[in-house]
Amino acid sequence: MTDQTPIFKTSQLEAADAEPRNHSANPTMGELIIARFSRRGFLAGSLAVSAIAATVSPLALLSARPARAQEGGSAFSFTEVEAGIDETHHVAEGYDADILLRWGDGLFPDAPEFDPTAQTAAAQERQFGYNNDYVGYIPLEGSSEHGLLVVNHEYTNPHLMFPGLVTLVEGEMTMNPLTKEQVDVELAAHGGTIVEIRKVDGKWQVVKEGALNRRITANTEMEITGPAAGHDRLKTNADPTGTRVFGTINNCAGGVTPWGTYIMAEENIHGYFSGELPADHPEAANYDRLGIPEGSYEWANFYDRFDISKEPNEPNRFGYIVEVDAMDPNTMPKKRTALGRFKHEGAESIVNKDGRVVFYLGDDERFDYVYKFVTAGSYNPDDRAANMDLLDEGTLYVARFAEDGSMEWLPLVHGEGPLTEENGFGSQADIVIETRRAADLLGATKMDRPEDIQPNGVNGKVYVMLTNNTRRTAEQVDGVNPRAENAFGHIIEIAEADGDFAATTGTWEVLLKCGDPSIAEVGATFSSATTENGWFGMPDNCAVDSLGRLWVSTDGNNPSDTGRTDGLWAVDTEGDARATSKLFFRVPVGAEMCGPLFTPDDETAFVAVQHPADGGDDWEGFGRVSYYEDLSTRWPDFNPDMPVRPSVVAITRQGGGKIAV
Ligand code: FEO
Ligand code: CA
Ligand code: CA
Ligand code: CA
Repeated sequence: MTDQTPIFKTSQLEAADAEPRNHSANPTMGELIIARFSRRGFLAGSLAVSAIAATVSPLALLSARPARAQEGGSAFSFTEVEAGIDETHHVAEGYDADILLRWGDGLFPDAPEFDPTAQTAAAQERQFGYNNDYVGYIPLEGSSEHGLLVVNHEYTNPHLMFPGLVTLVEGEMTMNPLTKEQVDVELAAHGGTIVEIRKVDGKWQVVKEGALNRRITANTEMEITGPAAGHDRLKTNADPTGTRVFGTINNCAGGVTPWGTYIMAEENIHGYFSGELPADHPEAANYDRLGIPEGSYEWANFYDRFDISKEPNEPNRFGYIVEVDAMDPNTMPKKRTALGRFKHEGAESIVNKDGRVVFYLGDDERFDYVYKFVTAGSYNPDDRAANMDLLDEGTLYVARFAEDGSMEWLPLVHGEGPLTEENGFGSQADIVIETRRAADLLGATKMDRPEDIQPNGVNGKVYVMLTNNTRRTAEQVDGVNPRAENAFGHIIEIAEADGDFAATTGTWEVLLKCGDPSIAEVGATFSSATTENGWFGMPDNCAVDSLGRLWVSTDGNNPSDTGRTDGLWAVDTEGDARATSKLFFRVPVGAEMCGPLFTPDDETAFVAVQHPADGGDDWEGFGRVSYYEDLSTRWPDFNPDMPVRPSVVAITRQGGGKIAV
């Protein structure tokens, strides 16, 4: 690390991200690759090579225990999993965790068998993509045992996907340039999957014959809708109309709307673009605010649209919320520009008491913002078609949190306040294209990396996952971001005024400061009933079950930070048990926990195991960087002829019944 010496050893993601930029340095797997491997013949990007952080003060040296009041035990009755690290997954006793879909699994009757030594883009387009992230379930005829599983494929890890890519040159691990075919596999492994699934004798099966099965990739044609559609800043050589774009990229979390469409959030789009713009180019400041171009992917070597010196408007066509009608495989996905352009984590929604629909949106970057979008129209439960363009009209708000526990939602509306021509906003199109700059001018509160945000229809609250921000200094601490060098993140609970999710004011409190509660300096606030297995760091995704209980999945727990893998934790929010957490499922070494998602009957929890076997150098069971030929785990197949494979797992209770009672 060159920019600061953290108190705690930060995660590899943090460590790889050592540039001292506030607003344009979100870590991506591309940065990790650059940090770990030297690359030959690689198109020069704008990213400096940075090293994995040297060892810093180990947590073990800090052993003072904070005084904590006695609190009630967890309301969840399952037997907790032991936290730790090994090659496989672990679920609570009495449950089955079955692999449902692996990278490369066929989704159609004609899909070729997965052959990792001869993978092609054509095969990948018929198979489950890489690095499953968001998981949604759209019931068919109201069933919790037959529906569409919708899954985002956020990004690709070429060093784990392609044989022969990493070689040892004079003792140094070197990553060779990707071939065009490999880049085409990457494009086809991005995007999303829509696939019919059915529970037969208590076990979920993929229905390859499903008429609605669909792969969406970085090449799928999409329509751009809303205020920015057709604007000059979105026009390219391939699309002089500014209304058609090929593909969606870096789809992190997402959502399923009340009308049953599938939402894919475009997050770290900056990594896919290479090339340079002149410093005085009209888009230069816009792109700098998003860290574009980072150039960690090699797509621009083969496709001019990813080179901003050749196609300077292309990045303005990414960074949106994408809506897909999963019930019609022939419809074009739509990029809904009204919901703003930034590093969208997800878009979970709720029908407000007045019928309008409210979408909560996190912008996952250090010191970026929490947003919500309130539709202008109302949801019509009796007429699905009437809801299909609700996301094109409404108001986008950004959050400002006050020290007294109150908060305001500030509207991003052209002509209001500083959002005027004078400040470079000619229309609402400019505001949605440069959402971050508009929010800067409104004085929004700079947060510790807003990830998934979940409205809870049972208790009326909203939960905001703030994953970490080790760059927050003591001077930058405020009530809603209460820790400097926040390595482990926290969770905020919002109560909208009068239980009105469309309200422009509300109150907030910190539900939980994460990290090891036995180390006083960490300042974690789990209840005293939380066991040594029950605490976690780096909250990322979350869900509520039908009883309104919170489940949190994490990104970045590893041997050096927390001595445990990522996983899925059940977190109490009510009564004496508030802030008690219990470990339900944990992932194999190197992986991140995505999902989770419960079926409406609460009898299945789907989780997504993303980037298993990535890293490995800080785990004593492996001790070196993992790559295709030398993997820290071959989960889930444990077959020497198969690489590690990101997979969706279906968790059910043995003998049936609700996951948690
Ligand atoms: Fe894709 Fe915010 O993590
Ligand atoms: Ca979620
Ligand atoms: Ca994540
Ligand atoms: Ca994350």
